[in-house]
Amino acid sequence: MLFNTKNPFRILGLAVLLSGAMISAVHAEDDDDNERVAPARNALWQTECGACHVAFPPRLLPAESWRAVMSGLDKHFGSDASLDPAAAREIGSFLEKNAGREKHKTTGKPLLRITETRWFKREHDEVPARTWNNPKVKSAANCAACHTQAESGNYSEHNIRIPK
Ligand code: HEC
Ligand code: HEC
Repeated sequence: MLFNTKNPFRILGLAVLLSGAMISAVHAEDDDDNERVAPARNALWQTECGACHVAFPPRLLPAESWRAVMSGLDKHFGSDASLDPAAAREIGSFLEKNAGREKHKTTGKPLLRITETRWFKREHDEVPARTWNNPKVKSAANCAACHTQAESGNYSEHNIRIPK
């Protein structure tokens, strides 16, 4: 029925359908921030790195950044997030194994913050200053203020609620 040549509109419809599918396939490939990729999991990482903020998804920083974060846990953004060596090793290798592959152009030092990556700024450039300054948000690192499912690693745009 689909190839019924007596009905040119059917064929046109199929062509539109196919090109649409091709566009979304290409889009999915260069899009490292979509929820179709199952989030990486590690129980120790979830409890230790999810104690003070959400356990940030490993793919949002490159391996060199995670290495730098993990080597300075005693002076971690003004807090002490130290771990025993075995736990640090396990979490460190989990983070590096699942790290993002996008290279971040920096002035030599690896970025320690997801919120300072060009990716993050681009993805959030429509969020107005008054939202960032909202006391319910406090910090751009407070992902869960807007991403209601951030705890479970889901950052889908369907689960965003901007606090008023
Ligand atoms: C004792 C509390 C505490 C623990 C435990 C902790 N952090 Fe943090 N972390 C912080 C604070 C405080 C900040 C700064 C938040 C802000 O700027 O709003 C932060 C920020 C970060 C940031 C930068 C966020 C951004 O993009 O701005 C990363 C990455 C990070 N933590 C990773 C980790 C990892 C990995 C672990 C587990 C090994 C961990 N944290 C455990 C307190 C903690
Ligand atoms: C002030 C609210 C707010 C905060 C805080 C916030 N985001 Fe977002 N985020 C948004 C908005 C708005 C978008 C854009 C959604 C769109 O494009 O429709 C977005 C988009 C995203 C996307 C892409 C989602 C998609 O499906 O395309 C990811 C991934 C993401 N944010 C991760 C984070 C992470 C990780 C943090 C914390 C380090 C964070 N966000 C903090 C509001 C926020």
